Amino acid sequence: LYGKARRNSEGLDFSDRSLLLKLSAHMTRIAEKGWRGGPLVAGAMRTDQAQAVVSPSDRQRQTGKITWAGEGDVKTALQAADAAWPDWEATPAERRAEILEAVADFYERHQTELMSLCVEEAGKSLRDAHAEVREAVDFCRYYAAQARRLFSRSAVLPGPTGERNELSLHGRGTFLCISPWNFPLAIFTGQVTAALAAGNAVLAKPAEQTSLVAIRAVALMHQAGIPTEVLHCLPGPGGEIGPLLVGDPRVSGVAFTGSNETARLINQGLAQREGPIVPLIAETGGINAMIVDSTALHEQVVMDIVRSAFLSAGQRCSALRLLCVQADIVKPLLKMLKGAMDSLVVGDPHWLVTDVGPVIDAEALERLEAHHQTMEEHGRVLHRAPLGGDCERGLFMAPTLYRLESIEELVAEVFGPMLHVVTWRSGELDALVDRINAQGYGLTLGIHSRINAHADAVTRRARVGNAYVNRDMVGAVVGTQPFGGEGLSGTGFKAGGPHYLLKFATERVVTVNT
Ligand code: SER
Repeated sequence: LYGKARRNSEGLDFSDRSLLLKLSAHMTRIAEKGWRGGPLVAGAMRTDQAQAVVSPSDRQRQTGKITWAGEGDVKTALQAADAAWPDWEATPAERRAEILEAVADFYERHQTELMSLCVEEAGKSLRDAHAEVREAVDFCRYYAAQARRLFSRSAVLPGPTGERNELSLHGRGTFLCISPWNFPLAIFTGQVTAALAAGNAVLAKPAEQTSLVAIRAVALMHQAGIPTEVLHCLPGPGGEIGPLLVGDPRVSGVAFTGSNETARLINQGLAQREGPIVPLIAETGGINAMIVDSTALHEQVVMDIVRSAFLSAGQRCSALRLLCVQADIVKPLLKMLKGAMDSLVVGDPHWLVTDVGPVIDAEALERLEAHHQTMEEHGRVLHRAPLGGDCERGLFMAPTLYRLESIEELVAEVFGPMLHVVTWRSGELDALVDRINAQGYGLTLGIHSRINAHADAVTRRARVGNAYVNRDMVGAVVGTQPFGGEGLSGTGFKAGGPHYLLKFATERVVTVNT
């Protein structure tokens, strides 16, 4: 049902010092050259001025230059994609799958450059940048396998004698893929390759903050064999480009990852335009909780909290925001957690020792500072980790721990390395899960307990897309932990899961009187 065994991308051995030195030297050489990027639209003319892209870890350092797409690019791309998709849809699924596998191979061959872009442009730590490329490669190969499984043949359905009924899946037309900056290569690639695998043309609109890496990825996809008329990249401000695309009836579906507010705007735009009603696949945020009971193993819990809340600078939609600790153990657990926070290395993402890199841009830092100030005014700050010496030049936020009176005090996702703690008492577990559910989000949830009945009760009761027992709650693996939430957290289907491609497709039945 879920396709043949498939190999996930292999990792680098970071304990190999010579490999690390080579990697670091290669990345530096690449970064020194700088990148240039602009819209990749078949048949478009380039006229616009390029602007500088600055690194979040050092505001003095220019990563490259970018040109935004204009209204003309959008029109050209829409027209070209609309003309090209029927041929792409008619291309056998086997061939589409082979091309996606070639994309994976190209990514692996250009791994160092892609990692370098993730570090420079997105401020990803070296380990996160490496994981990012691997996840992108996994998406290519996984959706290739799913395309073969779902789109290669039709299903013959039961019917009366003398009649043949065949059900088949097809691309819908042109898909708009709007991706976020926090996984500038992995989520970008996941959306685009899913839409392509299902037989759609794609207009990719990457996040403004991380357009260079997306443009480079699209150039590699073109080199690997995706026709330029089938896949276009339109970098630029979402507020300007988004409405032009969403409002056009030639757009046959939208895949979006980002904020709940933007997902609603897209939904409204799709509802109000002329033309067919089309699907929106939205993956939005979450106020993700971890529940810890008094039987949990402190050392393990603390390691998993740190990983889930603070690594990647807390800039994962899966990240832990709300830690719910059984009151009996809160003192020793928080003492150990504070110690672990103090040993985090916050600073330059180029170094392997760095645990927490910068946040994405000045606006994000301002929002997080404002949250911190509010918490401070209410006397809620429990602990702040120290910043490293090299932090002045970039956009760094110290990992911080806050105390809340109740979980309802946290009303919105705080997208940074900031964790909020509440306590609960024995006998309150079911009610606690109900209160977490009542917040309306449903992305990830963690439970740490050595009582199986507790873990089972929580995972049964929690309305979340991804529940994790006795481990961290980030880093879902393609094909192993299909990822995505419910409620305010998203529409489904899950990325990296066996049903994801279905939402990019339409079904057709042919009935023949034989
Ligand atoms: N898939 C990522 C994770 O699991 C979040 O987008 O952490």
